[in-house]
Amino acid sequence: MCGIVGYIGKRPALPILLDGLRQLEYRGYDSAGVSVMTTGKIRIAKRSGKIKDLVDLVKGRDYLKNSSLGIGHSRWATHGSPTNVNAHPHTDCSGNFAVVHNGIIENFSDIKIELIKEGHTFKSETDTEVVAHLIEKYYKGSLEKAVLKAVRDMEGSFALGVISSNEPDKLVGARRESPLVVGVGKGENFIASDIPAILKYTKKVMYIDDGEIVLLRKDRVKVLDSTGKEKKKKIDTIKWTVSSAQKSGYPHFMLKEIHEQPRVLRQIISSRLKGASGILLDGINLSDRDIKNISNIIVLACGTAYHAGCVGKYLIEKFCNIPVVVDFSSEFRYRGPIVSKNTLVIAISQSGETADTLAAVKEAKKKGAKLLSICNVVGSSLVRISDGVLYTYAGPEISVASTKAYTAQLGILYLLAFYIAERKNLLKKELRRYLLKEFKKIPKKLQEVLDEKSKIQKLASRYYTFGSFLYLGRNLNYPTALEGALKLKEISYIPAEGYAAGEMKHGPIALIDEYRAVVCIVPESKTYEKMISNIQEICARKGKVIIVASEEDRDIRRFTKEIIYIPKINELFSPIVTVLPLQLLAYYIAVKRGCDIDQPRNLAKSVTVE
Ligand code: AGP
Repeated sequence: MCGIVGYIGKRPALPILLDGLRQLEYRGYDSAGVSVMTTGKIRIAKRSGKIKDLVDLVKGRDYLKNSSLGIGHSRWATHGSPTNVNAHPHTDCSGNFAVVHNGIIENFSDIKIELIKEGHTFKSETDTEVVAHLIEKYYKGSLEKAVLKAVRDMEGSFALGVISSNEPDKLVGARRESPLVVGVGKGENFIASDIPAILKYTKKVMYIDDGEIVLLRKDRVKVLDSTGKEKKKKIDTIKWTVSSAQKSGYPHFMLKEIHEQPRVLRQIISSRLKGASGILLDGINLSDRDIKNISNIIVLACGTAYHAGCVGKYLIEKFCNIPVVVDFSSEFRYRGPIVSKNTLVIAISQSGETADTLAAVKEAKKKGAKLLSICNVVGSSLVRISDGVLYTYAGPEISVASTKAYTAQLGILYLLAFYIAERKNLLKKELRRYLLKEFKKIPKKLQEVLDEKSKIQKLASRYYTFGSFLYLGRNLNYPTALEGALKLKEISYIPAEGYAAGEMKHGPIALIDEYRAVVCIVPESKTYEKMISNIQEICARKGKVIIVASEEDRDIRRFTKEIIYIPKINELFSPIVTVLPLQLLAYYIAVKRGCDIDQPRNLAKSVTVE
């Protein structure tokens, strides 16, 4: 969580920093601040609140404008509440060093005690402030050397941006387990937690790796390893466009990203399915022999990505005859998992920066597993430690509530299951042909759901005052129920629970009364009749049923008028389509409730702390 940005060059730094922070606000939005160098002095403006509050704060401060060196921060509080004092940047005793930080310094209390003994005085409750004081302690005329020494004392995770009035021609960055990218410009250079912050200025980037320090001058970038030795680094060119990271006329990123789903799936189809040569999973990095040797698969992920993994389990077990366990990344490490060299770990992550997932996959790798990741962000931390990578190429997902990344992850999981089955000779030609033909129909079906969105909007206006929701699904659509409930709770703050419909009678049925909205996912399927029994049970207890059903299912009207019809689709592929009305329902309910759609309270897009 938290976003950092830094600039050194010829232009005024302040607007670049503020603009970068706006792009990074999805990472944390409880406080924000900037620090710029003017007339040989570090000047700071920071406060609790959003970036727009910071913009108001700096308005009258003209002295902040004459600077072409600075750092900025948007915060998601971990240590110390979101107050003006705890907002970043933080400084040392002299005020000569300013630091922005994303991550957690785990041993900060011990460091702080030592530094206080040595005479340092602290202003905030944050872990970050120790970094500024450590740099002050170690500074002997070289900022990068002082940073190098300081980070050696620190345990935990960090991406740092540091400036010093002693050396106003330098911007220093450092990284351990939190993302940091360098933007390479002409006569100017940048650091940032994520690419959208610098995309407007340059498409040339350098990914900083764990343990590295980067020294930026306006016309030079030098990367040092943990011993201080210079390292050669590759410069990559970003393919994203600036508009792909903007709202393009939609009121919220979430709505824009929901609407992008047909395109994202179309893109997966056009890039991954090629005529006679079949499914192209370049990046998988598994030979046919490796595939035949896979004894078991463990899927590791968090939140929405975990729900995608749950669908993946059904698919892989059905087609590939390989046992699959899906684990929350945060639980995996603590349960003594059984992993061997024939275990394939599939990590799913939109950002590739989720700390729990990174920690879990490292553990699995230590035990000998092969790591294949499904990820959206090129060059992310997860990607760089994976043996193979399947990119979702969904484009930047800015809204905290994940939508297009989910359907893209599902798209890749279908193709992966078919691919593995094919390599194991488990997929007959005709069946393969049929499956791929059906798969190719998905974008059109998604578009059909979007075309009917006004009906979902009206439905939302009848239900937005309900105090709680239950989502029920079976088999492949049980994960859809989990995902529908997660979407609603994270953006509307309405308590919502996803449940396997068959489990309802084992407890949750006690919750049903006329105040409970129950969303039932009932596409054509082999469990259709069982879902109908569940609906009958809910109606008998006066629950308010909302049904997601196939367009041809007219019979289902006997239970309720609240039906969201989706196009007819083979049960196997239904999760990609059934989730879309649930995303829209959550969105419109949250809009009616006046919630902050793209930046829901207490959340952050990338959870880079464990
Ligand atoms: C989804 O709407 C959430 N905001 C969240 O659950 C997210 O999916 C989770 O934090 C995992 O993120 P990742 O895909 O970037 O690893």
